[in-house]
Amino acid sequence: MASVDVPVALLGYGTVGAAVDRLLSENADDIERATGHRLRVVRALVRDARKERGFAPAPGVLTTDFADVRDDPSIALVAEVMGGIEPARGHVLDLLRAGKPVVTANKQLIAQRSDELFPAASAAGVQLRFEASVCAAIPVIKVLREALVVSSVHRVLGIVNGTTNYILTRMEAGDTYEGALSEAQRLGFAEADPTEDVSGADAAAKMAILATIAFGSRVTLADVDFEGIERIVPGHIVAARELGMAVKLVGQATLAGGAVDARVAPALVDRHHPLAGVEGAFNAVMLQGDSIREIMLEGPGAGGIETASAVVADMVSIVGTQGTGFLQNDAVWRTLRKLPPGELESPYYLRIEVDDRAGVLAHVAERLAAHGVSVARLIQHGLAGGASLHVVTHEAPAGAVEAALGDIALLPETHGTPTRLAVISDRGVAAAG
Ligand SMILES: NC(=O)c1ccc[n+]([C@@H]2O[C@H](COP(=O)([O-])OP(=O)(O)OC[C@H]3O[C@@H](n4cnc5c(N)ncnc54)[C@H](OP(=O)(O)O)[C@@H]3O)[C@@H](O)[C@H]2O)c1
Repeated sequence: MASVDVPVALLGYGTVGAAVDRLLSENADDIERATGHRLRVVRALVRDARKERGFAPAPGVLTTDFADVRDDPSIALVAEVMGGIEPARGHVLDLLRAGKPVVTANKQLIAQRSDELFPAASAAGVQLRFEASVCAAIPVIKVLREALVVSSVHRVLGIVNGTTNYILTRMEAGDTYEGALSEAQRLGFAEADPTEDVSGADAAAKMAILATIAFGSRVTLADVDFEGIERIVPGHIVAARELGMAVKLVGQATLAGGAVDARVAPALVDRHHPLAGVEGAFNAVMLQGDSIREIMLEGPGAGGIETASAVVADMVSIVGTQGTGFLQNDAVWRTLRKLPPGELESPYYLRIEVDDRAGVLAHVAERLAAHGVSVARLIQHGLAGGASLHVVTHEAPAGAVEAALGDIALLPETHGTPTRLAVISDRGVAAAG
């Protein structure tokens, strides 16, 4: 087979960009054997062309002028690995409009601006791929868009942030939140400013993308309610263990009754559920649908080389599929309403601190029953000056649980504000077999 020379460009030559160049040059023979195409980085846009680089680009490749990429007709394909919204958004739009397919690793860009980017790719008839934007090396977008195209996925569950999963795994082993966070920073799993990760914002951007692709309806970052792990204390971890569960930061995207709900929050995950076994900085995504039952993908969710491998895989896929119409189409093909807050049903774990005296349990149970929330399990721990109740409810709407907790907070025997976490225990499919 005759080899086709494919000059490609990168927007950015940092951790991921340099790793993409290295993977393309070190694996050029393998890629050529598999696809008949030889991908060569001929341009890379940077801010400072004189900066020392981890992997040295070929002479003359670095440029600080975007026009060198946009206006070079020989460049067949571009990978955006610079990050941020601007100027990345403008550059990607310009490239798509100029008929160049684009691969991006930029979750914020896709989670916030797919309304402009998807139609631009569709109108130009070129591919925009973004596998690396969600969970780095885990090929979940490819599975959703290609392998599961007729599978009607109705729920996506994910541990999509490695930093928080690492911190919770350390807390499970007895560390405090602060101790676990500084260890994560020392090992390079957490940034010096960890806010984006520990607040759940990073996971929310990934869940927006996963929900959009899974359900074919646009879900942006602004549509995802998120809560981080900052309020998780060792007491939550201990209670979870006694209940046979583990605390995880879980992203959930649900299609229920023709409406979409997407959220990120700490949850109690049943020990028998596959997500409970995802440890350390690993990520995992579980896809549930009628015809597939469930599929779980697990692997490293970050890292320069892992992310670069997903970028390269998308580049190789493009040269293998372009011009056929496949994947040029806008991934959004319908508009679903957003599930009203409070209507999403789940079992919940409730932590309530109360006076340790007769009649208190009955009052708490009455308030729950008044809102239609029934108790599945209950554990009581003695505390100095009172007791803590750890309640697991049967499935109930979030709004009803919130209203019951509001009433419980008003009881004279209740101390402080009760808290709730969702419980993940079902496999989401009818009993297998
Ligand atoms: N690193 C990871 O583990 C990881 C994982 C998943 C996804 N991602 C995503 O991958 C993307 C790249 O991440 P990274 O870690 O490689 O970032 P990085 O190391 O900071 O590299 C960014 C690159 O883009 C260039 N750049 C930034 N702004 C620019 C501008 N306005 N004009 C021209 N060049 C500009 C920088 O140029 P200079 O070198 O001259 O400064 C640098 O080469 C981001 O979207 C990130 O979210 C990264």
